[in-house]
Amino acid sequence: MKKLNLIILFQLCFAGLFAQNKITLNTDQARTIISKHIYGHFAEHLGRCIYDGLYVGTGNANIPNTGGVRNDVIKALKDLKIPNLRWPGGCFADTYHWKDGIGPKNERKAIENLSWGNVREDNSFGTDEFLNMCELLGAEPYLAVNMNSGTVQEAVEWVQYTNHANRTSYLTDLREKNGRSTPWKVKYWGIGNESWDCGGNMTADYYINLYKQYATAMTSYSNTEGLFRIAVGPGTPDYTWTETVMKNVPLKRLEGISIHHYSVINWAHKGSSFQFSDQEYFTTMQQAWRIEELITKNSEVMDRYDAEKKVALIVDEWGGWYETDPGGTQLYQQNTMRDAMIAGLTLNIFNNHADRVRMANLAQIVNVLQSVILTNKEKLLLTPTYHVMEMYKVHQDATLIPLQITSNSFVKGENKIQAVSASASKDATGKVHISLTNIDNVNGQEIEIGIPGSKASHVTGRILTSLKIQDHNTFDNPTNVIPQVYKNAVVSKGILKVSMPPGSVIVLELTD
Ligand code: AHR
Repeated sequence: MKKLNLIILFQLCFAGLFAQNKITLNTDQARTIISKHIYGHFAEHLGRCIYDGLYVGTGNANIPNTGGVRNDVIKALKDLKIPNLRWPGGCFADTYHWKDGIGPKNERKAIENLSWGNVREDNSFGTDEFLNMCELLGAEPYLAVNMNSGTVQEAVEWVQYTNHANRTSYLTDLREKNGRSTPWKVKYWGIGNESWDCGGNMTADYYINLYKQYATAMTSYSNTEGLFRIAVGPGTPDYTWTETVMKNVPLKRLEGISIHHYSVINWAHKGSSFQFSDQEYFTTMQQAWRIEELITKNSEVMDRYDAEKKVALIVDEWGGWYETDPGGTQLYQQNTMRDAMIAGLTLNIFNNHADRVRMANLAQIVNVLQSVILTNKEKLLLTPTYHVMEMYKVHQDATLIPLQITSNSFVKGENKIQAVSASASKDATGKVHISLTNIDNVNGQEIEIGIPGSKASHVTGRILTSLKIQDHNTFDNPTNVIPQVYKNAVVSKGILKVSMPPGSVIVLELTD
């Protein structure tokens, strides 16, 4: 009898626990577009990101390429609908002189990469190669200007070289001589990178004066070229930096402000990318959730100076950062289901803040930090993070459906964080998509989603999950973790019920 009571009690608690996961979609409040640029990426001259990862050179007979860019990478990124790519750094951008990377390759200056390993950089991948690659990918380029060791004049000339009409100056003559007559029309320009650290160790007050000089000189007086100028924001909860920018830079000289956030356990002990404990996993998830507060508090500051939300908040570096894998090149790390959890959770947060967050760039695209692609000579694998971004691409440029969520907690010892996160959108054809992430790697979740007024009678979906949160793809087994068809959801009379396994990401599509 005692045993039976215990079982019933357990079942009740379990049921009670399950009943906590409730989501309501406010379809009547769907107004804001989720910019596709939230799904952007970042490529830096670091480790094997550019060379080997994206670019293998035109003379490479072993790896099929187009103008030196790997064909397998091009295909994978086009399948992802990559909307933009930030380049050339990161800290590398803070000492990069773009003129070193143009013209005949045998005449380009070799430089030392002062940010990443002091290796020789032959500059064979430069402005033309990057912008042509973006065209191949159908992605908008996002250039980071060197405001540390560079000059205002260099930035002004970079804009002219890339954007101005033919024959307007020696710079556009140079562009033509280098094989490109029509301008690329680069819209996104980051003015500096981490100016509080590798970008010059500046104070906010010093930075804003310099920013204004660059932002004014790079455009004509009224910015008829439509440049989207992005100021450096904080990489920590330093909201006074944001306040200094917002208060002092006229809104006509500022289109975006960037923040950085890495999910790192501890900078002194970052832990292995694929052999980690449950505690390390939990701490990574706590760090990933911090982006919610960083976005909310930065947005509050921005709202005070820009109530109409004209200036975008841009998270142009984000992702998990662990120790470099043994034997790996700089910042090379494996990518496991833990990273899929960071991606699913973070992208839900970005979507839900789409009114202010209008661009983000995962760090970094290939072979560095939380990559979507890893390469090894002629081999390539798609990581769990790739699969999450691919599943979530349905949200690109769709209309956000705001939601309310009550979720169970993911508990570790005395600490707890929200287990389930979600975001939803309606696309141009009227289909509703809901993305769900359960970061609890021990407990599954039963979720009830109310969609008042919905006539949906049909639900399909895909799921990314695996037995262990450490699971990942390898070059010998590249399909160990891949999305599967998901059938455990039912919808009827405006109520959708979903069963989520531990550590899983699900994207559902609802139709009438
Ligand atoms: O993404 C790696 C580095 O992290 C970037 O170069 C820098 O901007 C940040 O600190």
